[in-house]
Amino acid sequence: MHSKPATSPSYGPVGVSRALAASEHESSAIPPKSTLFTHEFSLDDRVALVTGGNRGIGLEAALTFAEAGARAVYCIDLPEHPGEEFLKVRTFIRSMGLSCKLEYLQGDVRDQKAMWKLAEQIGDCEGRLDVCVPAAGTADIGAAVDFPGKEFQDVMDVNVNGVLFTAQAAARQMARFGNGGSIVMIASICGRVHGGHSPGSGGEKSSCYPPRSLAVAEFTPI
Ligand SMILES: NC(=O)c1ccc[n+]([C@@H]2O[C@H](COP(=O)([O-])OP(=O)(O)OC[C@H]3O[C@@H](n4cnc5c(N)ncnc54)[C@H](O)[C@@H]3O)[C@@H](O)[C@H]2O)c1
Repeated sequence: MHSKPATSPSYGPVGVSRALAASEHESSAIPPKSTLFTHEFSLDDRVALVTGGNRGIGLEAALTFAEAGARAVYCIDLPEHPGEEFLKVRTFIRSMGLSCKLEYLQGDVRDQKAMWKLAEQIGDCEGRLDVCVPAAGTADIGAAVDFPGKEFQDVMDVNVNGVLFTAQAAARQMARFGNGGSIVMIASICGRVHGGHSPGSGGEKSSCYPPRSLAVAEFTPI
């Protein structure tokens, strides 16, 4: 999808490469300044899409992106209108004097075409999409031995299919604008270690890793 990235970002080498480059110009009158939080870890002017952003991990991620300098964060979740926590976070962002737009969009991650469309609308509006966190999730608790098939299917539809559809939606916009981007996957330690009798919160998580790994492998430059 992307060509192989250059070895250095557009603003020059980073980390040890930068130090080594600087050592070749020891006589320079201008001392170097740290770029870690102005470039490498800065989300200045970046646009983010977060699913499950009405609360929980998604809302935490949204606030973090706002504080890190993002221009806009779009939170997608099931309710028609955002909840009280979301609105308080938006007020908090404004009270800090941050210019980040925290937007709320109603959407269902289980609907592939609708997710693609929502991401496309964000792209149309912002002219870029840089970060995606598919944090929408559901977990039904119950013993694996008699966990109902319908409930298990519901979990898989949100936590597995919904993650893939969200990653696809974001990757399509990242490819459209050619700036690259980051898709940050959320999984649970329950997918790797035994965490109790809960196929809804642990069982499906082990199934989550392959599609997430597949998406990472395909959507990122080799
Ligand atoms: N909280 C934890 O400690 C933890 C740890 C590891 C992994 N996780 C996983 O991370 C994900 C998020 O966890 P959380 O604690 O923020 O959960 P949460 O229940 O607080 O938030 C999940 C959000 O996803 C939304 N959502 C559910 N179905 C949706 C759908 N079809 N479309 C759009 N939005 C939908 C919900 O409305 C909710 O706002 C879950 O998959 C969870 O299993 C959580």
